[in-house]
Amino acid sequence: MPRGAGEARVASYYEKEIRRDPGSAVGAPFVRRPVRFPSAFVTVSNPDSLLAPEEVAHAIAALRGLSEERDVDAWRTQHLGRKSRLMGSLRALGGLDRSRRAAVGRRLNEAKAQLGAALADKQAELKARRTQDLASLDVSLPGRPLPLGGLHPITRTERAVVAAFATMGFHVIEGPEVELEYYNFEALRIPADHPARDAMDTFYLDGPDGAAPLLLRTHTSPNQIRYMEGHEPPIRLIAPGRTYRNEATDATHEWMITQTEVLAVDRGLTLAHLKGTLYEFARHLFGEDREIRFRCDYFPFVEPGVEVSISSPDGWIEILGAGMVHPEILANMGYDPEIHTGFAAGLGVERIAMLRHGIRDIRRFYENDLRFLRQF
Ligand code: DAH
Repeated sequence: MPRGAGEARVASYYEKEIRRDPGSAVGAPFVRRPVRFPSAFVTVSNPDSLLAPEEVAHAIAALRGLSEERDVDAWRTQHLGRKSRLMGSLRALGGLDRSRRAAVGRRLNEAKAQLGAALADKQAELKARRTQDLASLDVSLPGRPLPLGGLHPITRTERAVVAAFATMGFHVIEGPEVELEYYNFEALRIPADHPARDAMDTFYLDGPDGAAPLLLRTHTSPNQIRYMEGHEPPIRLIAPGRTYRNEATDATHEWMITQTEVLAVDRGLTLAHLKGTLYEFARHLFGEDREIRFRCDYFPFVEPGVEVSISSPDGWIEILGAGMVHPEILANMGYDPEIHTGFAAGLGVERIAMLRHGIRDIRRFYENDLRFLRQF
């Protein structure tokens, strides 16, 4: 703004102010004199609203309506802060002509005192309320619980299974869920025309032309082969993880389930070691009272093969398949089956979780219904 214009505007402002308040210290009729502001003050000295008593009253009324500390702070900044009009005007006082300085200064200081007093009242009121709030706080009431997340029941059971085998010296490995057909089937003695392939139909993935077929593994047993390929006995491992089948779902079938594979290979392992290990496992997970039952079963990669069931209010429930690692597989891995023998087992974690918790429908686990999941 050109200097002259600023002077004119400010000068006419004071003129108006003093006329409006003839009782001010100046007393004398207004005499128009050129006002000289140091140039730096021309723009900040904009004592434009707070001098009018009705505007001070207005600001105070607004303050009385506030109830949040945050808003009161904002009010203070606006009306009494360093950058407020009032403070700017007070700073600019020095540039006023002496005869007006006193009158204007008095008005400004009056306004400041009124605003300050109103602010102090409001602050006292807020403080009183805070104290009262505090007094009405019953510290003996129970706290509000934080919304904590929890582990999925399958994760919990999987960990319990891992812990049971860990106490017997088994260590944990993991293998890929997208598996080569070779590891999932052929290497486990399930050739393309084997009937077991029907029971283990799965999802195949498109790979590059000519590449080995990829699929979602139907069980955790491929981990047996993967591990034996790269290691010498003694072996004692478990391999938990997800497995997939192209399966219609019902209360006892899901297209994705969690399994845990067990494999031990050493000199002179027998079916007795397998039974002892699985008894111990069942005791660990279900306690002493549950009975467990071994029956002959067939799996292409073991000989002999067994199925293991556990007693429940609904009768015997099969929880795992197991057996002695087929000598042909041991030989394929480069072991001498006359020296090294092994046992293997594959258990269904969902089945075990259902038994532990009395859940009748496997589909509950993956419906993401918090009313169900929160129970665990
Ligand atoms: N892989 C089998 C399945 O998913 C379960 C199984 C049976 C695993 C016998 C084993 C075993 O290691 O020895 O049905």
